[in-house]
Amino acid sequence: MASLDELKKECAGCAKCGLCQTRTNLVFGVGDPGAKLMFVGEGPGRDEDLQGEPFVGRAGKLLDAMLDIIDLDRSKVYIANMVKCRPPQNRDPLPEEQDACFPWLERQIEIIDPKLIVCLGRISAMRLIRSDFKITREHGQWFDVGGRQIMAIYHPAALLRDPGKRPETFLDLKEIRRRLDELG
Ligand code: URA
Repeated sequence: MASLDELKKECAGCAKCGLCQTRTNLVFGVGDPGAKLMFVGEGPGRDEDLQGEPFVGRAGKLLDAMLDIIDLDRSKVYIANMVKCRPPQNRDPLPEEQDACFPWLERQIEIIDPKLIVCLGRISAMRLIRSDFKITREHGQWFDVGGRQIMAIYHPAALLRDPGKRPETFLDLKEIRRRLDELG
């Protein structure tokens, strides 16, 4: 099996969709390659595209604060996105862009082999949990997907837009901590 570094190099040469033509940097992922817990967002925004790292803009600062609540930081988990190149104007990644990029995420998951995956928002949940996933009803619940435990929580950008969702997310974060502690 290739290492994450080898996979990143391969991914940097990917031209399976048009996003590679408009991006500044590949945003492959960051964190501990042996992490038990992996977060999967949607796709890079402007700041991420410029810095080549996921979740470094406003939503990323909130994600860091969310990790801090449960005594984690980005060096102890792994953070990646559904698509590795920024969709122009921060539009949602198109289904064909998601399809083209998904094998990279699958290979990241295979290499890291996390026990727990947390989807940030509905886009990754619809891909990793179920295509008709409903974030308002099903956030905070664990789903067994091929032997891996996967949960979705609200995307930090949604929490910035609607702080009223934060108390529910606080409970979801506590549940993630509880499950992580259970793993030892
Ligand atoms: N939103 C995402 O889904 N991913 C990022 O990396 C940044 C913002």
